[in-house]
Amino acid sequence: MDSFLIKGGVPLHGEVKISGAKNAVLPIMAATLLTAEPCVIHGVPNLSDVKFMGQILAWLGAQVSLEGGSVRVQAHKIKGQGDYDLVRKMRGSICIMGPLLGRLQKVRVSLPGGCVIGARPINLHLKGFAALGAKIHIENGYVRATARRLAGGEVFLGGRAGSTVLGTANVMMAATLAEGVTVIESAACEPEVVDLAQFLNAMGARISGAGSPTLTITGVERLHGAEHEVIPDRIEAATYAIAAAATKGEVTITGARPDHLHAVFDKLHEAGVRVERAGAALTVRRGGRLRAVDVTTLPYPGFPTDLQAQMMALMTLTPGISIITERIFESRFMHVSELARLGADIEIEGPSAIVKGGQPLSGAPVMASDLRASAALVIAGLAARGATQVNRVYHIDRGYENLDGKLRALGARIERVDES
Ligand code: EPU
Repeated sequence: MDSFLIKGGVPLHGEVKISGAKNAVLPIMAATLLTAEPCVIHGVPNLSDVKFMGQILAWLGAQVSLEGGSVRVQAHKIKGQGDYDLVRKMRGSICIMGPLLGRLQKVRVSLPGGCVIGARPINLHLKGFAALGAKIHIENGYVRATARRLAGGEVFLGGRAGSTVLGTANVMMAATLAEGVTVIESAACEPEVVDLAQFLNAMGARISGAGSPTLTITGVERLHGAEHEVIPDRIEAATYAIAAAATKGEVTITGARPDHLHAVFDKLHEAGVRVERAGAALTVRRGGRLRAVDVTTLPYPGFPTDLQAQMMALMTLTPGISIITERIFESRFMHVSELARLGADIEIEGPSAIVKGGQPLSGAPVMASDLRASAALVIAGLAARGATQVNRVYHIDRGYENLDGKLRALGARIERVDES
C-alpha cells in the first residue's frame, strides 16, 4: 500500500494543468451503455475509479479500451446486472442503473450501502425510475427495476440535502429512451450533469434545461455513438488553489473552467487569497495575512462538499475562528481527527466544525479515510513543519491524477513510498 512522505514548509510555485473531471467522466462512461454503437470520450483522467468503471462496463459485456486519455466503449450486447462486488467498491457505479434500465427495460444491481462520508441512500434515484413507470423491488440486498416500456413522467428529485447529482444523472439517462416527455424538477445543477446532458444530446437525446433545476427530456427511439471531451475537474483545480494559499506560494492553474468555481473563489477572496484570471488560466497567491471565514457546503452553485476538507485544512492555518458547516453528507468529518494529529484545534458541533486556526502545524503520520479527506491531509502536510506521512493514498489515486507528480513539479517535497 502506497503512502506519501511530505517534507512541509515549501511554498508551491509554477504552473499546473488540470485533468478531466472524475465526476463527469464516470456517468458519461455509464451513458455509453445506452447505445450499441461505439462512443469515444476524450480528456479522460488516469484514475483508479475510471479504470474501475471501465472494468464494470467490460463485465456488463461492453468492449472497452482506455488509451492516452481517451476511452472507447462499444456496448453491443450487454447484461442488466451489477453484482455486490462491483457496486460496493465504488459508490459512483450506481450510475449504471439508469442506462441499463433505459436500454434493456430491466436492471438488477446490488444496493451500494453507505460509505465513510454518510449513509448515501438511493431512494431518489428509485423515485425517478418509478415516475418513468418502472416497478421497483428490493430483495436480498439487490434492487430490481423493470418496465414493459418506460414512459415519460414528472418527478421532483429534491431531498433532505437538496438535489442528487447521480440521481439526476440516472433518471435523465433512463428518460432519454422513454416514450414521451420527462420533466425533472429540483434537478442537480452541477457542471458534471450539464456535461453528461451534452454527451447524451450528442448521442441523439433531446434534453433541455441542463444546469437549471428543471430538466426536460423528450424520449427518442434510439441513441447513436458519439465523441465527447470531458470538462476539467473543478475540484482538482480548487484543491491546487487552496494548496497554493496554504503554502504561501503562487500557482498558475491552466485548463480549468473559472466559471465553475465562483463560490470557491468568492470564499478564497474573503479569506485574503488573490485569484487573478487570464482566460482559462488562474493565478493564485496569498494577498497577505489570511482571514478566518465561515463556509457552508451546498449543492451547486454553492460551496462544494468535495472541497470542505481542503478548505478546513486552510482554515487551520488561519488566525481566528472559522465555522465550517457540512450540509450535504452527515459524517464527512473524518479528516478532523487526523488534522488534529498535525496540531489543528477543531471541535465538531453537530453539522459544524469549529476551527481555531493559526497555530503552526507540525508533521506526523496520518491516515487517509476518503478521497477529499486525503487531499486535505496532503495540503496540511505541505504547510506543516517537518515530515508528514499520509498513509493509504489509494484513496487519492481514485480521484486525483498524478497528485504527487504535479505537486513535485510545483516544488513540493513529496514522495510516494510503497509501505506494503
Ligand atoms: N441523497 C438522498 N437520496 C438519494 C440520493 C442522495 O437522500 O437517493 C442525499 C445524499 O445522502 C446526500 C445528498 O443527497 O445527503 C447529495 O448526494 P448526491 O446524490 O448528490 O451524491 P452522489 O451523486 O452520490 C456525487 C459525487 C460526490 C459528491 C456529491 C455531491 C460522483 C461520482 N460523486 O455523489 O463526489 O460529493 O455528488 O456533490 O459524482 C467525491 O468526488 O469525492 C465525491 C464523493
